[in-house]
Amino acid sequence: MNRNKTKKIVVLATGGTIAGLAADSDQPQNYKAAQVDVTQLLDGVVPTGLHVLTEQVAQVDSKNMSFAVWQSLLGRVAHWVAQDEVQGVVITHGTDTLEETAYFLQTVLQPNKPVAITCAMLPANAPESDGPANLKQALSWVQLRGSVGVSVVCAGQVHAGHAVQKSHSHQRNPFTSQAHVRHPDSLQIPTVAQVLSCTHWPHVALVFNHVEADGRLVRTLMAHDAPDGWVVAGTGNGTLHHDLQAALLEAQEQGAHVLRASRCAWGGVQSRDADVLPHAGLLTAVQARVALLLDLIARRS
Ligand code: SIN
Repeated sequence: MNRNKTKKIVVLATGGTIAGLAADSDQPQNYKAAQVDVTQLLDGVVPTGLHVLTEQVAQVDSKNMSFAVWQSLLGRVAHWVAQDEVQGVVITHGTDTLEETAYFLQTVLQPNKPVAITCAMLPANAPESDGPANLKQALSWVQLRGSVGVSVVCAGQVHAGHAVQKSHSHQRNPFTSQAHVRHPDSLQIPTVAQVLSCTHWPHVALVFNHVEADGRLVRTLMAHDAPDGWVVAGTGNGTLHHDLQAALLEAQEQGAHVLRASRCAWGGVQSRDADVLPHAGLLTAVQARVALLLDLIARRS
């Protein structure tokens, strides 16, 4: 392991279960996320001699992650990775929307230094809390030479930030990742400055194909609060109920951007001759939604 102990590591905290507290530590399933501050999280975790700077960027349960927090986080990560004396950045985050934040940061920033997002499935005061071990691993990962870009470090595994997904709701290791995931060529990527100055984010809705998935939901929303974009999690290879497809084509004619993904966790969508709506390749539906949001921001300016 090649380490450079003269440089600094920055830890940016955003909340999550890693910062959660249970009222009764013997019942860790009953807890509140985002309670413990970054200084306490690092207590007993930072190896002697390692220079760590900390910032509490937010304190949220990640189910409530917002564009405003994304902008703050992007700004702070961009600032710190640009500092010569900073070797890498660690972000603490809830597991629930971590894959969206990881895709967002990697796509917009594509940092040339390591940025490790870590988390926990058990709150900070649970007897077997996994947070301290995950944080230690993340601190080690960002000191490795060559580990550039956004990664997710959890339960002894490292996943590429643009390819990770939460695939289990309560296992200690909830993440998997696919190989060969790439941002669709047809979608533009905004600059960091464009994202940071965005005051009015596009509205991109997500809808599923399923049994009797008619187009009512899409037509109703288009008539009342028309989204700028739709991502549809299709069945299998991104297939759609004929009426849902018709409604999405109508939405497209009205100016909305439409992107198909698959509701299957793995495999994405492969092109077919009969395709009438574009697809997001291997991206999951939530990754596709982030990709479309970014594309719409890039096209505005
Ligand atoms: C959250 O996502 O903030 C809560 C759940 C978790 O971190 O596992």
